[in-house]
Amino acid sequence: MNEHDSETISGMLQQRGYTQIPDRETSDIAIINTCSVRENADKRFFGTLGQLKKIKVQNPEFVACVCGCMMQQEHIINAVKQKYPWVDIIFGTHNIHEFPDMLDELFAAREKQKASAEKERADVETAAYPADRRGYNIAKHDVRSAKDTRVVRVYDDKKEIIEGLPAKRLFRHKSFVNIMYGCNNFCTYCIVPYTRGREKSRRPEDILNEIRRLTQDDVKEVTLLGQNVNSYKGIAENGREWDFTDLIYALQEVDGLQRIRFMTSHPKDLSDRLIRAFVECEKLCNYIHLPVQSGSTTVLQRMNRHYTREQYIELVQKLRDAVPDIAISTDIIVGFPGETEEEFADTLTLAELIRYDSAFTFLYSIRKGTPAAEYGDQIPETVKHERFGRLVDIMNACSRQKNAAYVGRTEKVLIEGVSKKGSDTLTGRTDSFKLVDFPGELSLIGQIRDVKITDSNTFSLKGELID
Ligand code: 5AD
Ligand code: SF4
Repeated sequence: MNEHDSETISGMLQQRGYTQIPDRETSDIAIINTCSVRENADKRFFGTLGQLKKIKVQNPEFVACVCGCMMQQEHIINAVKQKYPWVDIIFGTHNIHEFPDMLDELFAAREKQKASAEKERADVETAAYPADRRGYNIAKHDVRSAKDTRVVRVYDDKKEIIEGLPAKRLFRHKSFVNIMYGCNNFCTYCIVPYTRGREKSRRPEDILNEIRRLTQDDVKEVTLLGQNVNSYKGIAENGREWDFTDLIYALQEVDGLQRIRFMTSHPKDLSDRLIRAFVECEKLCNYIHLPVQSGSTTVLQRMNRHYTREQYIELVQKLRDAVPDIAISTDIIVGFPGETEEEFADTLTLAELIRYDSAFTFLYSIRKGTPAAEYGDQIPETVKHERFGRLVDIMNACSRQKNAAYVGRTEKVLIEGVSKKGSDTLTGRTDSFKLVDFPGELSLIGQIRDVKITDSNTFSLKGELID
């Protein structure tokens, strides 16, 4: 979600004639887009923000901007205002569309400040002040204080969804598409409902039009984004309510679109109709990210997840019965408050049983303002780390095995670009979202081609093009 917000911000800057450069030190504008989901990001944010001061000292015209989920939290904005006075623009997740206006406002305020500094300088110079006093007044205005010109816009989630914003895509042939914003689930560890607000779905026509436009611009694959896409409820122009599966069936009919993915999907809301769509919609990829968070029913209850271990296992079984080779990934939190060794063992056995293709594993991180932050029985960091290590070993072994099973198979790969490994190696994804590297010509980028898998490791596959 944040990455896609960054694409929108880049798109707006591109429209104004700015280009992206790799070197922050020589930039005219830097924007830090923040995530508040875990504490680590908080720490990195304040570290990075500190580094921006150096640029500001070198170049007083530099514009320092901060945005994203963290800016939806009052204590963070207050900390930025008090401890980082050189920050010029602060905006929240609901104000992204206003960024160009905020830049204009900042530049206008700076001009005004400059003019009044000039005037005062002239007044001081004509007045019979002692030289040291004059110097003091002049210096005060030469060092520009962002505080006087700073632009801050942070709303809550009451405003309408803003349509039609540009985006500078990270990839030419695939794109993220937001279908909804916010979350109503209030998992007890999670800050998102407080920062991103309540669920709001885009109109189906707006989504379809955006995707049709994207396909005309060479996009072959879309990933539909929402905190919980399964609770999508879009009201069409004719008043009819669409659910998520309606959207998938409509996208199946979009010319030029070849692949549909989505994330994220809450297990409690995954419908039988959506499982059927995996079978009936050939464009819907054989891959699902289905966060389990914990394998223990009692922990799941304390997390407010609304499903049991058994229900989750049953759901995965249903998916696999319908689509036998579906790839499944997950999110797991280790060391949720009060997690006993037995409860953690339930997560390990669940991981062994499900055999995920890949997993994002997280140490539980206290998020101020969430119910779990107030739970008394927080788990010591050492215990969390030790459990984390055990879980990751199982997850990685499983990913390795799953990937090894691909060796010898021929897979359809959407060729996304050049691999990090070198310019003569291309990279792409299988239908099941496995990353594959293989030798090939740049002209193939954007095509879906057959690739024979020749080797595998924990996180990716290697292959050869088949003509
Ligand atoms: N601590 C650790 N992980 C968290 N996540 C969300 N909140 C927290 C937290 N407080 C994880 C969940 C979610 C993923 C995006 O981030 O696993 O699915
Ligand atoms: Fe957070 Fe739960 Fe909503 Fe996901 S479903 S964003 S974990 S509250």
